[in-house]
Amino acid sequence: MSATQFRKAIASQLSRITSCPESQLLGLLGTPKTALKQQFGIPIPRLKSQRDPTEWSNELAHKFQPDNLIQEASAKGPFLHFSVRPTEYIKQTLLQVHNEQSKFGCHIADTPHTVVLDYSSPNIAKPFHAGHLRSTILGNFVKRIHQAMGYPVVGINYLGDWGKQYGLLAVGFAKYGDESLLEKDPIHHLYNIYVKINSELTEQVDREANEYFKRMEEGDPVALKQWKRFRDLSIDSYTSVYKRLGIEFERYSGESETEPYIQPLYNLLQSKNLIHTTDDGAWTVDLSAYDLGSPVVRRADGTSLYLTRDLANLILRQSPQKSMYIVGTEQSLYMQQMFKIAELASLATNMHHVNFGRVQGMSTRKGTVVFLQDILDTAQEQMLKNLKENPTKYNELLTLGVQQGDQHWVGKEAVDQVADQLGTSAVIVQDLIAKRVKNYSFSYDRMTAARGYTGVYLQYTHARMCAIERKANTPITPDCDFSLLEEKEAFELALTVSQFPDIVKSSYQSMEPCVVVHYLFRLAHVMGQANSTLRIKDADPKLAEARMLLFWAARTTLANGLKLIGINPLERI
Ligand code: ARG
Repeated sequence: MSATQFRKAIASQLSRITSCPESQLLGLLGTPKTALKQQFGIPIPRLKSQRDPTEWSNELAHKFQPDNLIQEASAKGPFLHFSVRPTEYIKQTLLQVHNEQSKFGCHIADTPHTVVLDYSSPNIAKPFHAGHLRSTILGNFVKRIHQAMGYPVVGINYLGDWGKQYGLLAVGFAKYGDESLLEKDPIHHLYNIYVKINSELTEQVDREANEYFKRMEEGDPVALKQWKRFRDLSIDSYTSVYKRLGIEFERYSGESETEPYIQPLYNLLQSKNLIHTTDDGAWTVDLSAYDLGSPVVRRADGTSLYLTRDLANLILRQSPQKSMYIVGTEQSLYMQQMFKIAELASLATNMHHVNFGRVQGMSTRKGTVVFLQDILDTAQEQMLKNLKENPTKYNELLTLGVQQGDQHWVGKEAVDQVADQLGTSAVIVQDLIAKRVKNYSFSYDRMTAARGYTGVYLQYTHARMCAIERKANTPITPDCDFSLLEEKEAFELALTVSQFPDIVKSSYQSMEPCVVVHYLFRLAHVMGQANSTLRIKDADPKLAEARMLLFWAARTTLANGLKLIGINPLERI
């Protein structure tokens, strides 16, 4: 662990000469700065001593003995700085990446409890709106960052798949349903039927819908069979779209699954004395002591609500030790109410709402009602157009094809594949580039640009590095002469690489993917600078070897970071 190793060297010596515990000092040392000198620093006032910080800092700078890792300690007012030995730092960093490869950046959890993630969660027969898009992309990040921190995860897609509207959908299907359209494109077809039947909602239709849903609730096998078919086909269709984003769920659940747990939930809430009956007969839980109002958990007519089902679902989930709900900010109050009741009823603890802002201006060529598939198709088309603007590259792609894992595409398929991956990268980076709570406006033009802060730029940087590795014909080996990496660009690049594990941790702590995204742009930028000065072609073989390991380590770090945010790094564009 390069940065860790250097921090430890500083902390252990400093602990001896200050008598402060090593762990406290380690905590203060933080992420190394990308600077030629003084990469680590400690604000002496934080050591909380009676002594004058400036005087003490000076004294410590003199007492600190340089060693094989640390070259120098120096004082600047109350700050104590440490400079690493550059060659040693580069060496330890590159060796670490070489050792850990795709695991570089990962951590080991102290208590690796399973984390349940609730994300994406669209409603069947309704549009997959911007909120679902964000929940999907963010949720995938939340999943991957937990994995990188060493936690086992269970990703659940909690579908909106129950309620009166499914009765209405069934009535609509009897009138307008088309088996072949249902098989081909269930999501659009069911939505169209739903819109149509809603627009002609007469009393008679309403009655029929209610009756149908009642049959579903009573377990009528025919009604349930049809509903299940709609649900299964929708899930199949979603699964293939999620696949384009590299997303897989451990489980498809949904509101429908909670039915058997509703009564046990009521019993539990009653046994904990949490239920209040209002004058009209509805059941509420009084959360006024927490400023959270008195949400209803059972209507006067005995039916359950969205909140009831979310709570009942916790019984099904077997009271998880940690849960993350990736849901928009507008549901904040709702989430707090749900968490509070769950806590009071000892149903679950450690529940978190990973909230996010709105997306403005999202529409596709097919119209303003947006489905995930249409968003990805539109981004793909735009990327295809951009790729065609460079005929040489385009033709190269057509003839050489692309390799991904054990799959190889050639011709038009290769181009479509690359355009799709670039399109999804664009959508993902646009979504994760700012703090979660921020709103943003959706723009296909901006997000698909090859320059600027886009996923496309990151992909090009990665692919360019892969091309250098392919063309150079220089082995990637840890047995190289690190002292040859003496330029400041090399040191800066290694330092940037060494920050990655800290970046992963801090992104996890704030649950902000933008911490990783911003880091990746910085890394790509430093890679670009190093690439323009540190040539591999025509360099002496020993020097080429050392530089190759450096670039390979940077490229591996970029790939690991891209995967963390849900992007599949491309090797050839
Ligand atoms: N289906 C809901 C919606 O579209 C989102 C579900 C979020 N998850 C949950 N457990 N409440 O708004």
